[in-house]
Amino acid sequence: MTLAGPSPRLRKDLRDLGIIEGGCLAAKDGKIVFTGNRRDFEAEVSLGDDAAILDGTDRVVMPGFVDAHTHLAFAGSRHDEFAARLAGATYEEIAAKGGGILATVRATREATEQDLQEAIRGRFDEMLLNGTTTCEAKSGYGLTLETELGLLRAIAAASEDHPIQVVGTLLGAHSVPAEHKKDREAYIRLVIEKMIPAAAAEGLAGFCDVFCEQNVFSVEETRRILMAGRDAGLAPRFHADQLSDNGGAQLAAELKAASADHLDHVGDEGIRALAGAGVSAGLLPGASFCLKSRTQAPARKLIEAGVPVFLATDLNPGTSYTESMQTIMTLGCLLLDMAIEESIAASTINAAHSLGLDAEVGSLAPGKRADLILLDIPHYAHAVYHFGVNHISAVVKDGTLVVREGLLAYEESAA
Ligand code: NIG
Ligand code: FE
Repeated sequence: MTLAGPSPRLRKDLRDLGIIEGGCLAAKDGKIVFTGNRRDFEAEVSLGDDAAILDGTDRVVMPGFVDAHTHLAFAGSRHDEFAARLAGATYEEIAAKGGGILATVRATREATEQDLQEAIRGRFDEMLLNGTTTCEAKSGYGLTLETELGLLRAIAAASEDHPIQVVGTLLGAHSVPAEHKKDREAYIRLVIEKMIPAAAAEGLAGFCDVFCEQNVFSVEETRRILMAGRDAGLAPRFHADQLSDNGGAQLAAELKAASADHLDHVGDEGIRALAGAGVSAGLLPGASFCLKSRTQAPARKLIEAGVPVFLATDLNPGTSYTESMQTIMTLGCLLLDMAIEESIAASTINAAHSLGLDAEVGSLAPGKRADLILLDIPHYAHAVYHFGVNHISAVVKDGTLVVREGLLAYEESAA
């Protein structure tokens, strides 16, 4: 499945997987130089003496997954809250008592730099094993100038000697920290006047995010923060209409955001606004699944309206603790009524588009990075239908085999 062709995929094109039966792919210096059938491969491609051959017989081959919304930079665990929610507590009740995001903020502030980098690196490994070759990673569990920058630096440092390709996002406005509860305006000014300029100056982030929600950051506050981010060169992508319809999608359209994410409660007006502005919708069914939400993002309406839709894990310790895009595709189909083919395009080319990386990754075509995954399944549908297990047998990142027979191989290949 090459996923080659238009980007982003809209409406019925979201089902177009660019399938080549018995296909071949050739790469040189980390870039794809050929995709096509075996006959054309034999006619057009001559292999160098040092060429490595990866046999994909009986495998589905596709672009590596692009996970465009993660909160992977955190310490600690919230399994106690998971249990409390099973016993009837709500996410909002837990947060109001100082749990939720602020519980992870406390654990993350206490962690050493080394512990954090190890935790992040472990998550990068798990993502790679599950077929993710490019991801976005947010800060958001520090909530002071130093700790937010520290999280972005830890993400950058952990990715330096790791195959996974990472884009940072500043999420200083994830929550108002406890010490600013009496003066939220001072915290917003800290984000705008200190965090954004510093993250931009150090080149630590490509994007700026805000948790735009009742009792978190209002639409007006979100607009101020995202405009400051945009002025500093950090494109807006933010949490919108997750727990209520408060006009987040309309704000995303107004700001021409790279994406509006969650959208469980977006209304028809918000959908029209996103479609009109060409803003991507990031759908995160792992979160609505874990929160046992009765309301799911209206994926069918978004797709039919012509909004570019992508899927992501939302990997975080509170509402979606998974690195698996395969699991998320299953949830996209079962909870959001997406077709199998749609869930695949939404996890590759459209996710890459939302990150502005669709010229580089997200599909298999000459000139793009040789980022591909091999799945040990008899038909691509099994990636979704046979759920809860990892089907990845091999991962190639930038032309290098980094997962072999389902095991990490990148340290060996670097040696
Ligand atoms: O995407 N909505 C805000 N942020 C995360 C949850 C973070 C947490 O609970 O730690 C989310 O669901
Ligand atoms: Fe999130």
